[in-house]
Amino acid sequence: MSLQLEKVKELIQLRQKARLGGGEKRIESQHKKGKYTARERIAMLLDEGSFEEFDMFVQHRCSNFNLEKETYLGDGVVIGYGTIDGRLVYIYAQDFTVFGGSLSETMALKICKVMDQAMKMGAPVIGINDSGGARIQEGVNALAGYAEIFQKNILASGVIPQISGIFGPCAGGSVYSPALTDFNIMIKGTSYMFLTGPKVVKSVLGEDVTQEQLGGASVHASKSGVTHFTSETEEEALFLIRKLLSYLPQNNLEDPPLMSCNDPIDRLEDSLNEIIPDQPNKAYDMYEVIGAIVDNGEMLEVQKDYARNVIIGFARFNGISVGIVANQPNVLAGVLDSNSSRKAARFIRFCDAFNIPIVTLVDVPGFLPGTQQEYGGVILHGAKLLYAYGEATVPKITVTLRKSYGGAYCVMSSKHLRGDMNYAWPSAEIAVMGPAGAIEVLYGKEMATAEDPVKFVQEKEAQYKEKFANPYNAAKYGYIDDVIEPRNTRFRVIRALQQLSTKKLTNPAKKHDNLPL
Ligand code: HXC
Repeated sequence: MSLQLEKVKELIQLRQKARLGGGEKRIESQHKKGKYTARERIAMLLDEGSFEEFDMFVQHRCSNFNLEKETYLGDGVVIGYGTIDGRLVYIYAQDFTVFGGSLSETMALKICKVMDQAMKMGAPVIGINDSGGARIQEGVNALAGYAEIFQKNILASGVIPQISGIFGPCAGGSVYSPALTDFNIMIKGTSYMFLTGPKVVKSVLGEDVTQEQLGGASVHASKSGVTHFTSETEEEALFLIRKLLSYLPQNNLEDPPLMSCNDPIDRLEDSLNEIIPDQPNKAYDMYEVIGAIVDNGEMLEVQKDYARNVIIGFARFNGISVGIVANQPNVLAGVLDSNSSRKAARFIRFCDAFNIPIVTLVDVPGFLPGTQQEYGGVILHGAKLLYAYGEATVPKITVTLRKSYGGAYCVMSSKHLRGDMNYAWPSAEIAVMGPAGAIEVLYGKEMATAEDPVKFVQEKEAQYKEKFANPYNAAKYGYIDDVIEPRNTRFRVIRALQQLSTKKLTNPAKKHDNLPL
């Protein structure tokens, strides 16, 4: 065998060794937990055969606690690039078989390298996290590594889409990078996110809590809102990442991909002409409206179990990718509160950063009053939503279906916050507040002395409704551009999107804004 051939053989052997990560036993243990390895995950996520790995021969440089005796080719992360539906993406996947995926100095350098490359090329970066946090033996070097990654996440924010898959336990530093990225995806039963695990919680607070209760997928989906998507399996989570990317541009200078559409643009949905109940306090399901107007009834909902009084998600109109924001009358009457305001605000800012038009469907009785909300800072959280709509320069189309009262009218993509096309259904009611509250405030004293208080209230309410329980008062002032037939909503939204496709609007130059946090 020639010397060169021998060297080629050595390379092949080294590659084989690197592909085994922490070794066969640990791979087996990973499989037994119902989890795939880093390389298996990458292979399933990317287009077949598209993955190109780099830094396969990097090793950690730590000699504390005799660690120099335990080294693995590639250390605890696999990095590289490939394609999803033919589009370039960068990826890193932490390898739990190497020191539990815990972050070393060299792992951080690898992750930073792939992020730099993604920024230079203007392509999304996907991180698959499965890690015990900072590698304890490396001390401050591991912490420094985390901070370097966070810095890259911050600079990449709003420039390239950043997506985090949480595919195992993620503790300590491993949770902050996902928190800084645009979307997190968790898996039921195998993925966890917490600052520190149950043992430390017990010793510091004396609280008994399981991993699942502390930071399982359902906790972060419904209570904290930390995760945007939850899946049953790793396969489903990887599919979700592919689907999510199909709605997004490669970076902030590009438009989202335009898909071909076989759903007729002028499809009339007669059911929408009768969907609003006669009784103003009766709910209906906003999902039915969304399903009736978007292409093929498909929406990729974001944070679907969190603050369910507002619905957010990606959908398409005639193949054009949009962000949908909709009040949900079926949950808390669609009222805006702290959590729903934050949820919608972050989504709107994402859409605006990545040139995705926003379609807003309004049916909102106002902001939720009371001590609980006030103490929780509803003023600040509501202001975030106001801010997000007001600063957004992407096309903004608003359809008011029924109620649009008070501050919530101003906030929900109104004309006054640079809404481009503001439509209303004939059932829209736009006023400072609902009839009952208004009559109480305006005629409280008279009510007390009226001969027949019930009749008095009925009469006053009827007068109020006559004046405000319609869209024409707002349309009179041009705050509503047109009153449309509900069944024609899809067509009108598509026409508006076509009209607004060349929209140019910029905000004043500044270092950065001061969003009310
Ligand atoms: C070094 C680690 C490690 C770590 C796990 N391992 N975490 N090695 N540093 N942080 C190693 C284990 O020694 C073990 O090695 C292998 O990874 C698998 O770990 P197991 O414990 O056997 O696995 P499992 O039972 O599945 O438990 C996983 C786990 C647990 C829940 C993640 O390992 C754990 O609690 N780790 C510590 C989590 C934590 O508190 N991290 C916070 C770090 S502080 P062998 O050789 O047996 O395979 C931090 C601060 C950063 O991150 C702050 C930045 C803002």
